[in-house]
Amino acid sequence: MNILLLGSGGRESAFAWKIAQSPKCEQLFIAPGNAGTSQYGKNVDIKVTDFEGIGRFAIDNAINLVLVGPEEPLVKGIHDFFLADEKLKNIPVVGPQREGAQLEGSKDFSKQFMVRHNIPAAASKTFTKDTLNDGLTYLATIGLPIVLKADGLAAGKGVLICLSVEEAQQELKEMLTEAKFGEASSMVVVEQFLQGIELSVFVMTDGTHYKILPEAKDYKRIGEGDTGLNTGGMGSVSPVPFADKAFMQKVEERIIIPTVEGLKKENISYKGFIFIGLMNCAGEPWVIEYNCRMGDPETESVMPRVQSDFVDLLLGVAEGNLNERKLIIADKTAATVMMVAGGYPGEYLKHKTITGIENVRGSQVFHAGTYLDNEAIKTSGGRVLAVTSLQDNMFTALQQATADAARIYFDGMYFRKDIGFDLL
Ligand code: AMP
Ligand code: GLY
Repeated sequence: MNILLLGSGGRESAFAWKIAQSPKCEQLFIAPGNAGTSQYGKNVDIKVTDFEGIGRFAIDNAINLVLVGPEEPLVKGIHDFFLADEKLKNIPVVGPQREGAQLEGSKDFSKQFMVRHNIPAAASKTFTKDTLNDGLTYLATIGLPIVLKADGLAAGKGVLICLSVEEAQQELKEMLTEAKFGEASSMVVVEQFLQGIELSVFVMTDGTHYKILPEAKDYKRIGEGDTGLNTGGMGSVSPVPFADKAFMQKVEERIIIPTVEGLKKENISYKGFIFIGLMNCAGEPWVIEYNCRMGDPETESVMPRVQSDFVDLLLGVAEGNLNERKLIIADKTAATVMMVAGGYPGEYLKHKTITGIENVRGSQVFHAGTYLDNEAIKTSGGRVLAVTSLQDNMFTALQQATADAARIYFDGMYFRKDIGFDLL
C-alpha cells in the first residue's frame, strides 16, 4: 500500500523509519519531511496545512492511508476535509477529526470532558475577557503556585506557572486583554498545581478498541538537572520505571477506559492517537493534558520498542478492528537524546553543516530540524537530531545514546548529558 505521512520532525522520522520496515508498505511519502526522512521514503514539498495540495497528492499517487504527525492539521480539520470530499473520503486518515482534536485544541474543552467523565484532573475554572474580574478574585482564593493555561494551541508556550497571586493576576490580564498568546489566550483555564513526576502515556484507538503503546518520560527543560527554559523536549526514555504494573492499571481503569468510552458516548468519532500527559502524585495518576497526536521526542523512544508491524496497527485503527491486531513491545529500554541548535529555545542558529552521523555505533539517528543542501546535511530547526539507543538495560541505553550524540558535530550544538539518569 501507499502511505502518506504528514510532518517534518523527529516524531515523523521515527514513524517513517518504522513504517518503511513493514512488508505492507510499498511506497512511503513524507510531506514535507526532512533530510532524514528521505532515507525511508520520498519527501514531498507540501505544507501540512495545505489541505488542497495534500488531497490532490493523495489522489494522484493512489495513497491508501494518511498518517498525521502534528496537531495543527488535525485541529484545523484535515480529517474532516478528507471526509467531506467525494474523491478523498475513502482514503483513511489516522488522526482524529476536528471535534476530537479539541482534546488538545481547547484546554477548556478537554477539562470539561474530564469533568463529565470523572477523569482525575486538577480542579480548574475558565475565564474570558468578560469574566476577568471574577478571575482576578478567584486567583486570590486558591493556593500557590497557580497554573494558567491559554485555551488554544500556543506552540507549547501557553502554560504559565505563577508563584504569587500578583504575578498570576498580571499574567491573566495580559492573556485575556492584551492577547499575550494571540487568539489562543482569549480564554484561560486557571488550575490547581499538581505536585509529582510527569510521564506520557500513549493510546492508539479506532474509536472502540484501544491499545496502550509504551509509555515514556520527556525532559522538557533546556538545562541539566531540569533547569532553565522550557523546550519542546530535550530527550526521552521508555519504559518509565515508576510506571509499574499497578500504576499503569490505575491509568487504564481511571483514565484510558473512561476517555475512550467518553468519546464514544459523546459520538465523537476518534481514530488516532491519544497522548495523555500525566502527573504521578504519590502513586496516583492525574491528567495534566491530552494531545491528539504522539509526543516528540517520546515517539523516538516509543517506536523502537514496538516490535510488531506498525502499518498493521495503523490499518486496525483505520478499519475499526484494532482488537484483531497484535502489539508486541520489546522488553528493552530506549533512550533518546535530542541535539539542539545553539541559542534554542530562544533565537537559534541555522544552516550549520552536520558531520559525524556515520560515526554513531549503537543508536538510531532520527532527523528533526535538518535539510539537504546538495550533499551536505544542514540544520534548520531548534531541535535538530534525536539520537536513540535501544538496549537491554536502561543504563546502557542512556550511556550509548549520550556517547553517540557526542560523535556528531555542528556549530553551536548542545545536548543534555543527564537524560534519564535520574530514573536509574
Ligand atoms: P501542558 O501544555 O498542559 O502540557 O503544560 C506544560 C507543562 O506545564 C506540563 O508539562 C507540566 O510540566 C506543567 N503543568 C501543566 N499543568 C500543570 C499542573 N496542573 N500542575 C503542575 N504542572 C503543570
Ligand atoms: N513532548 C511533548 C509533546 O510532544 O508535546
